Parts: sequence; C-alpha cells; structure tokens
Amino acid sequence: PENVRVYEFAEKIGKTAGDVIKVLFALGMMVTKNDFLSKDEIEILAEEFGVEVTTMNPLDELDYVQVYDAKPNENLEERPPVITIMGHVDHGKTSLLDRIRSAKVADKEAGGITQHVGAYQIEKEGKKITFVDTPGHEAFTEMRSRGAQATDIVIIVVAADDGVMPQTKEAIAHTKAAGVPMIVAINKIDKPNANPDNVKAQLAEIDVMAADWGGEYEFVPVSAHSGEGIDELLETILLQAEVMELEADPTREAKAVVVESSLEKGFGPVANVIIKNGTLHVGDNVIVGTTYGRIRAIKLDDGSNVKEIGPSTPAAIVGLNEVPGAGETLVVMENEKEARELAEKRAEYERAKQLSKSTKASLEDLSALI
Ligand code: GTP
Ligand code: MG
Repeated sequence: PENVRVYEFAEKIGKTAGDVIKVLFALGMMVTKNDFLSKDEIEILAEEFGVEVTTMNPLDELDYVQVYDAKPNENLEERPPVITIMGHVDHGKTSLLDRIRSAKVADKEAGGITQHVGAYQIEKEGKKITFVDTPGHEAFTEMRSRGAQATDIVIIVVAADDGVMPQTKEAIAHTKAAGVPMIVAINKIDKPNANPDNVKAQLAEIDVMAADWGGEYEFVPVSAHSGEGIDELLETILLQAEVMELEADPTREAKAVVVESSLEKGFGPVANVIIKNGTLHVGDNVIVGTTYGRIRAIKLDDGSNVKEIGPSTPAAIVGLNEVPGAGETLVVMENEKEARELAEKRAEYERAKQLSKSTKASLEDLSALI
C-alpha cells in the first residue's frame, strides 16, 4: 500500500507543501514534496499544525501509515484529564478508585445499576476527571494497550506496608518511557506497619524523587479505607492537568480508544471506550480496527443511556459487528459503506500480513533444521 506524500498531506490539512517542508526542515528533517512521510514525521506535523490524523491502519501504524483523514481542530476547549492507575498486585488500585467514586456512586445509585466499563469519570470542584483501572497481574503490553493511548497522567499506587515491588518498578519504567507525567499515591497509610518514608526512599533509589525531598514527583499519602488523602490526591491531579492544558475539539467527529471489550448477551459486541477528541453520537457510523458498525447505544459508567459523549468521557458503546481489540482506535466515518469498505481492506491487509509472517516463520524453521 502507498503511504502519504508531503504534498498530499499538505492538501489534506489545507497547507502548502512548503509549509510542511519548513516545519520538518526546522527539526533537521529534509524532505521534498514528493517524499513519503514516516509515522514520526506525521506525528510531528499533526502536533505542529494542531490537526487530528487518522491512519488507514492503526493496527500497525509502524509499517502502514497511509493517512486518510487529517483535519484541523477548529474549536479547541479544555477537556478532563484521563488518569490510569497502575501498581503492584493488591496495593489497592481498585479500592482507591472505589473510594474516589464512592460519593458519585452513592449519588446515582437510585438511578440504576453500576455498569462495569473499566473506566470511570468523577467530578471534583466542578472539574471532571476520568480514571482507568488496570489489574496489577496483567502483562504490561496488554495494560499499555488498554490505557496508554488515552492516558494523560499515571498514578502509581504503592502500599505503604509492602513498599516498592517488581510491578511497581515495571509500571514506573513504562510510564517514564512513554513520557507520561506520574503521581505517586502511597496507599494503606492506615495500617499500623505503614512506612511511607520507606516507600519514598525506595523510589528515590530508582530516580523517582518526591517533590518534598527536592525531586520532581508529587507523592500523596492516602488510605482507600479511611479516605485520608483522597482530596489531596484529586487536587494534585487537577493541578497537574491544569499545567498540561489538555484540549480537544468537541465539535468535530469523534475519535476514541477502546479500553475493554466483550460480547454481552442481548447487546452483542460491546466496547468500552474513552473519547480522545470530538463528540460521538448515537447513529454515527464507525470503524474500529477491522470491525465497523453504527452506534446503537451509549451507556455511561452509572448505567445511564445518553445520545452523545464528548472528549475524555468513558462509556460503553453498542452497535459494532464484532468485538474489537483493546487499544484499538475508533473513528467516525462518513457512512456505513465507507466504514465497511475500510474495515474489509484492513482485514485483508491483516490476513496478508499474518500469511507473510507464517511463511517467513516456516522458512526460518526450515533453515534451523538445515
Ligand atoms: P489488583 O487489581 O489485583 O492488582 O489489586 P489492587 O491493586 O486493585 O488491590 P485491591 O484494591 O483489590 O486491594 C487489595 C487488598 O488491599 C484488599 O484486601 C483491600 O481491602 C486492601 N486495601 C486496599 N486499600 C487499602 C487501604 O488503604 N488500607 C488497608 N488497610 N487496606 C487496603
Ligand atoms: Mg484491582
């Protein structure tokens, strides 16, 4: 498949090839107007020109970056931060989230059953915050594909009685590698054997120095059980988010990331998504990886049905033809035909790639035998 050339990309975003070349040149990248753009170059350009870029195949953008949509964000507005909670098994990630949500859950309980969407939104002093929970035992690649694409800030949860453990270190390494800001929540401070200073010292050893020790990371001692420190944690999140000036354009068509997905009796394929940009409406035709469909229902984390959702909102969506993979990107298409055709093209590409992989593998197997 052909990728996108400099002048084609410029056309899509309403700029001249010269504008595009200038931006890359300033960063030491020499291209001419007929050159194909790499994934990195496209990302830089999207950032520079404030456009949302959608590629033909988000399943494997590395070797296939044909851009089919690149449109400027014309009505940027502040959006809520998306927070992913990570940490070692049993350090209290889910409990912390439950405690954070408790006020809201109690408020809405009369309205209906709480839905499991893997992501939740709360409100603190009129500001919304979206949270994504991750299981401590899961393989990291999996975890990353769930949350990372939508994550603005990571909360590393460390139990004050247990201290830094292997998965704490792993979560920190991945967060740092992804360049995502990190806040440390020292949990379980209600326990008699809690030792927050020990956690601080252990983290200092791996270059995560607490701000009150002269480092760059905010540490917040909390207890999911007593509720102590939860307000401070939320305030720290909002402060960090403010610095980041997170924005999205709610007036454009939606782009979302799948956090979880499943096949539900009576609903069919259900995808739990977080909106990255734009607004998603019931009735929208969408493509997600190699599947597509028309949005039939949008369910919020409190179980209520809504007609539309904007940036950073987590929700379960119904109407896809198949269950999409976690980490895949949902994009709104012009109409059903367009969505189906592109989904089929992608599926075909995936099959071809799998086939070439297995051919290669069998050749390697063969040479290993010789
Ligand atoms: P995984 O999802 O399996 O990785 O675990 P998790 O990090 O979500 O931990 P979870 O919230 O399930 O809590 C594990 C255990 O720690 C439970 O028994 C909780 O009741 C307990 N726990 C969590 N937070 C606190 C706390 O602040 N204080 C005390 N004393 N116990 C806590
Ligand atoms: Mg958990």
